[in-house]
Amino acid sequence: MITFVTGNEGKVEEAEAYLDEPVKQVAFDYTEIQADTIESVAVHGAREAAQEIGTPLMVDDSGLYINAFDGFPGPYSAYVENKLGIERVHQLTKDESSAKASFRSVIAYATDNSAGSVKRYDGTVHDDDDPTVVTFTGRVDGRIVPPRGDGGFGYDPIFEHGEKTFAELTAEEKNAISHRGRALGKLADWLEETQ
Ligand code: IMP
Repeated sequence: MITFVTGNEGKVEEAEAYLDEPVKQVAFDYTEIQADTIESVAVHGAREAAQEIGTPLMVDDSGLYINAFDGFPGPYSAYVENKLGIERVHQLTKDESSAKASFRSVIAYATDNSAGSVKRYDGTVHDDDDPTVVTFTGRVDGRIVPPRGDGGFGYDPIFEHGEKTFAELTAEEKNAISHRGRALGKLADWLEETQ
């Protein structure tokens, strides 16, 4: 059983599709610190949640990175979605010659087990504090377009990858290529090998 600390059921469904074990959702409201990287946010959140709930557990922090804006909103994606909304994010990119963007995700897994070797799985061990947190990253490239589709959540309707926006994909199709899917795949491989 893996505990996924999140209020977002969409993320839990994506995790269940990837991991062999059952996923238990815990909606503990950890502090989302303002930081320059989603990795810092995820590691801090995993440690804070572990103090309340115990290990092992995972948290995910993700963001939309728009190339023409030097990666903004990145770690501020939730704030920008709430304040501006995705339609206006698309409007902002209309004057740019390129609307290239990426979704990025960091999964932070807090564990008391020795983290073992993670190099092969593209993981990073953060053992500077208790408990040890291992992070796994995923990224997918695409472009910002006018909103299309009813599926997914967040910025999915304005993020096009290939011919379709993420909101036009089924959950399985999104999982197979998404930032979170890629990070989950690395976590799954590492868990299988080490835990
Ligand atoms: P968080 O990782 O839940 O903090 O999400 C940060 C921001 O990115 C929020 O505005 C989410 O709606 C958005 N977001 C995270 N993952 C995805 C995704 O897979 N698709 C679209 N938007 C996402």
